Amino acid sequence: MGKWHGRCPSCGRFGAVIEELMAAAPAATGRGKGSFSEVDARPTPLDALDARPTPRHGTGMAELDRVLGGGVVPGSLVLLGGDPGIGKSTIVLMACNALQAAGITSLYVTAEESLGQLKLRAQRLGVRGDRLQVVSETNLERVAAHVEAVRPDILVIDSIQTVYDPRLEAAPGSVSQVREAASRLMYQAKGKGIATFVVGHVTKDGAIAGPRVLEHMVDTVLYFEGEQSSAYRILRAHKNRFGSTNEIGVFEMCADGLVEVANPSAHLLAERAEEASGSVVVPTLEGTRPLLVEIQGLAAPSPYGTPRRTALGVDSQRVALITAIAERAAGVDFVGQDIYVNVAGGVRLDDPAADLGVALALISSLRRLPVPATTVVLGELGLSGEVRSITQVEPRLGEAAKLGFTAAVLPARVAAKLTPPEGMTLHPVRSLDQACDAARAKG
Ligand code: TYD
Ligand code: MG
Repeated sequence: MGKWHGRCPSCGRFGAVIEELMAAAPAATGRGKGSFSEVDARPTPLDALDARPTPRHGTGMAELDRVLGGGVVPGSLVLLGGDPGIGKSTIVLMACNALQAAGITSLYVTAEESLGQLKLRAQRLGVRGDRLQVVSETNLERVAAHVEAVRPDILVIDSIQTVYDPRLEAAPGSVSQVREAASRLMYQAKGKGIATFVVGHVTKDGAIAGPRVLEHMVDTVLYFEGEQSSAYRILRAHKNRFGSTNEIGVFEMCADGLVEVANPSAHLLAERAEEASGSVVVPTLEGTRPLLVEIQGLAAPSPYGTPRRTALGVDSQRVALITAIAERAAGVDFVGQDIYVNVAGGVRLDDPAADLGVALALISSLRRLPVPATTVVLGELGLSGEVRSITQVEPRLGEAAKLGFTAAVLPARVAAKLTPPEGMTLHPVRSLDQACDAARAKG
């Protein structure tokens, strides 16, 4: 029996319960039709399986291929999520375009924009070609018919929130429609070997009815991120059955489309004011990829009774902890100071190795002593001010050396086991206090 629910019995929140409409007959949903490939579904000994590498279509866009794990896998279902206006339609259209050169046919289903708008974007991007078929369609039954007619290698659904399965009564964009549409597309993808890209909008709070409900169904979940105010876009694999989730692709949104940024560190540091106090460069890792970022700290006397604490790009709790450690262990007095921390370029840091960089940026700002422009800083801070080991130091220092940095302040335990890259001097430190000396942030 149905019962009225205002409040979710499991999480206790109001308004979190969503109505789902079921299809009339379960058989009509495409489930229970047998295995995906409908070939040999008998159990096989594991040893008898041959492990051929997954065949892939390289898109020719190196940053995209890397995030996908080496190219598009035939028959895979890829969810491309991101805020509206971030560039999802742009990147898939560019990928379809690039794939034409390899003889790959794509069918781009625009369910959100008109064909006119699509054409305008294509002109802007310089996209053309007859292996790229487009259709304006929201009804998935008719999409299936178009797929039969075109027999594409790649299918793009832009977006999942605007297509619908006519067998369901629910409105497009509702949980039941989004889920049913995705499961239908998945059967089609697996059965016909069509790589399918599903575009989905995610609101900042990750709306429940949004593509989040699909994450467990699809093979790959990519998120396209970036600040509206900045031209940089980061493509991140959140889940990938065909590759690592540690890879990112970096792009810049320009007037004629997305341009791949092969050397993001150089871009991120391009506008750095050298020898300015409060600026520290940290070699962080985005997945397995080293990335040099500038951490900016500002400590300024507060005109208010309660000083402000603002952190952008780093966790504010972490910043609170680091300032407390600096006060206690390195004798830094932040009392009455407004504190701001910012990671330049709109990058989000979630790397304990950045702790020391945050601390030194703030101390350097407070004492007005610049950290030398050719020094990088890395290390995790413990509660008593000790500098703790971090992982993967070699690729981090390698990237720093490549960009002309000549000194590194780093945990002593790590430094002892390391051969520094050529031309780089190591300053091993055990405590925040020692790090201030090594970074010349102490007068
Ligand atoms: P779009 O791909 O439509 O975003 P989404 O599909 O994620 O909603 O891109 C939207 C923004 O990108 C739009 O504000 C205009 C900008 N843009 C450029 O700056 N250069 C370009 O070449 C294109 C196509 C778009
Ligand atoms: Mg779009």
